[in-house]
Amino acid sequence: MNSKASRFLRPEAALVKHPIGVFDSGVGGLSILKALRAELPHENFVYVADSGFAPYGERDEGFVLERSRVITRHLLTQQHLAIKALVIACNTATAAAIHLLRQEHPDLSIIGVEPALKPAIVLSQTRHIGVMATRGTLNSQKFKTLLASLADQAQFICQPCDGLADAIERHDTGKIIGLCGQYTRAMGQFGAMAGDIDTLVLGCTHYPFASTCLQALVGPNVRLVDNGQPVARQTRRMLPSLSSHCAPGQCLLLSTGDPATLHIAARRWLGLEVPVKCLLI
Ligand code: DGL
Repeated sequence: MNSKASRFLRPEAALVKHPIGVFDSGVGGLSILKALRAELPHENFVYVADSGFAPYGERDEGFVLERSRVITRHLLTQQHLAIKALVIACNTATAAAIHLLRQEHPDLSIIGVEPALKPAIVLSQTRHIGVMATRGTLNSQKFKTLLASLADQAQFICQPCDGLADAIERHDTGKIIGLCGQYTRAMGQFGAMAGDIDTLVLGCTHYPFASTCLQALVGPNVRLVDNGQPVARQTRRMLPSLSSHCAPGQCLLLSTGDPATLHIAARRWLGLEVPVKCLLI
């Protein structure tokens, strides 16, 4: 294990003041953190990867809700963290928990992420839209309500992608290629002709990290859509206050699992070279 990556969190180690809290089941939420840092370069962030309890997507809703509660309480009550807003950088946890977290913490701005069906409708010419997401997201009442509200505007082909977030979490390239191939084949024909799927929604925050593989499988004319930028813009709108600093914001990275996984992913995908602290919650 990388020696830099393995340190337990101590208050004096956390010099990140008034951060925005961000959490996901694992490394997937880094795709949202990347967009947040671009949109809000002077803000500080504390990112929790709940890798010790990942993946969320094939667990029951009660489990995901409880983990979301534990993480939120931790980010709010630890004096040295004291977040000013919370971004649930996980479609599965948003579907399972956002309504209850908002009830339980009415003074906290909480921003969630859901599969980008509405932006996909705007982009699609063929009105055939693929949706890749976890089983938990697709089975949730929140997603079913969203889908029903848009059903007359396009045909949505929804594909549960068991194991894909886990393969991305482990950076298992062979498995990522195999599962992406299996799931895109199952969805039908991709392309620009009438009846083809011309837009593919990446409805899990892990999947943008497989976008090169997915784009190669579906062809260059198919648009891949995720929610990173819209979530970042929404966070800016909902922030109670903007940082008054001109210096670049800082990131504190915490993991309930193997810190090396988050450390390597943050370096690989965000060019972020910061030590990861272990979080025992
Ligand atoms: N990244 C998460 C999402 O957006 C969950 C992946 C998982 O843990 O299954 O749904």
